[in-house]
Amino acid sequence: MIHELSNPVIKTLVNHLREIKTDALRFRHIVQELARLLAYKALKNEPLVSHSITTWQGEHSFDFIQEEDLLFVTILRAGLPMIEALTALFPKASSGFLAMKRDEQTHQSVLYYDRVPSSCEGKTVIIVDPMVATGGSLSDAIALMKTRSPEKIISLNIIGAPEGLEIIKQKHPDVELYIAQIDKKLNENKFIIPGLGDAGDRSYNTPEKLNQ
Ligand code: PRP
Repeated sequence: MIHELSNPVIKTLVNHLREIKTDALRFRHIVQELARLLAYKALKNEPLVSHSITTWQGEHSFDFIQEEDLLFVTILRAGLPMIEALTALFPKASSGFLAMKRDEQTHQSVLYYDRVPSSCEGKTVIIVDPMVATGGSLSDAIALMKTRSPEKIISLNIIGAPEGLEIIKQKHPDVELYIAQIDKKLNENKFIIPGLGDAGDRSYNTPEKLNQ
């Protein structure tokens, strides 16, 4: 199921990302903030486990998310600020990295790096990638993660096109996808309109693609 987080704070942050003058440092900072806001929403029903801790009034039990059961998976490289923010929230969670490059001719995603545990049994896999354009990269990443038998898969995304989100809905109806903003459409080059450019290029100052 797709959940769009329509909220004035989130809209404002996304719209700052659209501004071309927003530099790479602020761009990554906003992406991190949005990753945290998406996570708060996506983990609202996460089970809590009671742990005994030493407080200023001695030993007491309090509820915590079982961080060790969380596995964040990012698709390089635009997802890096997102995983950075989430591992700061949950330092005991583990992380996995996939690299997929969109072939600019065929618009298909190609996997060329995979550092995700081969078994993910019992894990809540949280895939993070700022952009869902055609949905190809995300759909492939979800399919790959499903082969590793996690407990469930959640996707956190910042901006997406209806076309790509429809693909995810059709191919992976069991995945809960939380997205900050669903934009109007894809253009003929499969870029999100109005979008924010290429999140990887915006984050890491690789301007050769910024004017496309
Ligand atoms: C972008 C983005 C997604 C993908 C979305 O990555 O971060 O991974 O494109 O497109 P899709 O839905 O059509 O598959 P890109 O390939 O530009 O790599 P980058 O993160 O290194 O910039």
